[in-house]
Amino acid sequence: MMRHFLNLGDAGPDGVKAILSDAVARKAARAGFPKGQIDADAPLAGRVLAMVFEKNSTRTRVSFDVGMRQLGGSAVVLDAGSSQLGRGESIADTARVLSRMADAIMLRTSDHAKMEELAHYATVPVINGLTDLSHPCQVMADLETVIEHGKPLAGLTWAWLGDGNNMLNSIVEASGLCEFDLRIGVPAGYDSDAGFIARAGAGVSVLRDPVAAVTGADIVVTDTWISMGQAEAGEKLAAMGPYQVNAALMAHAKADALFLHCLPAHRGEEVTDAVIDGPASVVWDEAENRIHAQKAILRWVFGQI
Ligand code: CP
Ligand code: NVA
Repeated sequence: MMRHFLNLGDAGPDGVKAILSDAVARKAARAGFPKGQIDADAPLAGRVLAMVFEKNSTRTRVSFDVGMRQLGGSAVVLDAGSSQLGRGESIADTARVLSRMADAIMLRTSDHAKMEELAHYATVPVINGLTDLSHPCQVMADLETVIEHGKPLAGLTWAWLGDGNNMLNSIVEASGLCEFDLRIGVPAGYDSDAGFIARAGAGVSVLRDPVAAVTGADIVVTDTWISMGQAEAGEKLAAMGPYQVNAALMAHAKADALFLHCLPAHRGEEVTDAVIDGPASVVWDEAENRIHAQKAILRWVFGQI
């Protein structure tokens, strides 16, 4: 059966664990290699990934490209503005064509229904590189980062602060699959998807008080208050203000708590310099792990793990 990676649930708890183990092991195996050096076993030799971007990207674009090279394969990038998608060619026809030219497709788009439509018509695996609903590749990198910093996932307490967005939906999913508690500190009116929360189970709680959300947390995570495609709104920024991750709020987390942010950060809004540049922050490891986690996701969609 074709494996797509549209959300973490597509891999399930065992698949997520297998992907994380592979990511950690392969990262260690290539320690000290130049970034473009191919892994000794070149497991995706001869494979091509087509990447389609309908939204901006730095990390996702570079990490998939470099990751494919490290696996012995290659990648082709299409931007909406310079491809026929941008002139109205349908997702279905794009899926049919790219399936004849590439071995897998990664899409970054707004509407999650487009991602599902692409997967429906594609005859090769499809990977979600971010939609307005979810960002599963980023959260796999987050999980790898937490494990690498000596915190096995099960039983941890994560605290999310800020907007109820795509990142939060995928962390909610991870909480159910990896069995950690998640305290969501989000202002009323900006809640994340109720379906993801219901499916994740009892480990997820929604709190309006940012201090209550962070108190005793092992992991503190936030993201931009204004996601790509959203209008900058003064009312929203005002509602988010109390949820800023600053030194005073971090002081309520565990002494050895880690700070995560998918980036790009809006310093002075959702996080202060003191926190993102401080001792709890692991955001640069988290960014690097996009490569390692996605290599394992690619191997998973091709049935290699
Ligand atoms: N975190 C993340 O997805 O970054 P990009 O938007 O730069 O790809
Ligand atoms: N929530 C952010 C994540 C960016 C990687 C956005 O959708 O813009």
